[in-house]
Amino acid sequence: MFGLGGKIKESDVLDALRTVEDPDLHKDLVTLKMIKDIKINGKNISFTVDLTTPACPLKEKIEADCRKAIKDHIPEVEEIKILMTSTVSAFDLNKKMLSGVKNIIAIASGKGGVGKSTVSTNIALALASKGAKVGLMDADIYGPTIPALLDVHEQPMVTDDKKMIPLEKHGLKLMSIGFLLKGDEPVIWRGPMVAGVVQQFLRDVDWGELDYLIIDLPPGTGDAQLTLSQAIPLSGVAIVSTPEDVAMNIAVKALSMFKHLKVPILGIIENMSYFKAPDTGNIYHIFGQGGGKRASEKLGVKFLGEIPLDMSIRSGGDDGKPVVFYDPESEQAKVFQQIAGNLAASLSIEMMSMAF
Ligand SMILES: Nc1ncnc2c1ncn2[C@@H]1O[C@H](COP(=O)(O)OP(=O)(O)O)[C@@H](O)[C@H]1O
Ligand SMILES: [Mg+2]
Repeated sequence: MFGLGGKIKESDVLDALRTVEDPDLHKDLVTLKMIKDIKINGKNISFTVDLTTPACPLKEKIEADCRKAIKDHIPEVEEIKILMTSTVSAFDLNKKMLSGVKNIIAIASGKGGVGKSTVSTNIALALASKGAKVGLMDADIYGPTIPALLDVHEQPMVTDDKKMIPLEKHGLKLMSIGFLLKGDEPVIWRGPMVAGVVQQFLRDVDWGELDYLIIDLPPGTGDAQLTLSQAIPLSGVAIVSTPEDVAMNIAVKALSMFKHLKVPILGIIENMSYFKAPDTGNIYHIFGQGGGKRASEKLGVKFLGEIPLDMSIRSGGDDGKPVVFYDPESEQAKVFQQIAGNLAASLSIEMMSMAF
């Protein structure tokens, strides 16, 4: 038994916490250097657990595990105070291009209309609600919908040194080609032009300090997506798809493209997975069941979660009132919170695998 009879020492606390594993990262908290600021005052101890993301879905479990480990290993402890904090680590490659932006996460899809923009927006809001610093870039220059989804229609200001200031809404920093285009005339873009605009959105926009920059990519696997994924230092990509086979097959194609480009795949998000009848509560799998899960198992990538086909998600989008911000306690918002947490955790796992 540690420290029995004598004084509790810092090494007793560390030895106890060495038995607590981060369930995602499969290493103990001491090895992961997450334990900070241990203070011992007689039989009372306090310490900080510094997680890799404020959106960590296992925060409560890790805290409870720490408490139990201390009680089991140092029974004479009377009071345990744990402060849970987080520091998002930075993806190495970003330092060259964007010093203040720690991670760039692309949200991609095989085809349009699967809800990529809706998912990008709600995930960005979910991460911000946990305290992360988040930017959202609309790179879907064929159909920029972020301005409508968040009801932001101003033009960004330009500083003296020619940097665009991102617009802000609900704590998100925003940039969209939609802010810069006038009227509804269609723009004909070729692949390299798309990549050019997006690179400009990285270089010439004053993003400041961000934990996560979420990029809503144009749908598909054409020239534009290819050039773009090579031109910007992506920390990872998540693929959004609806569950039916045809859509999933196209999503898998997109996934293969990113794999080929060596962009870490953070997982598959299935949208419009089921419909829950508001009157009876019955669940209908309109587009079939389990497509996303099957595809992710087959490919060995994470399944980040499923989002219902839901009126409030649709109307929230159309009215510029996304459900995560306007109805945060709703079942729908909680689904997005969960997926955002899984996405952030998947990125932490990816980064950890590079670090160790
Ligand atoms: N889970 C959902 N439930 C209901 N409607 C949805 C859902 N996800 C997206 N939509 C709606 O589907 C349409 C397409 O979504 P959008 O996010 O613009 O797709 P994409 O960016 O892939 O083209 C929009 O009208 C949006 O409100
Ligand atoms: Mg879109």
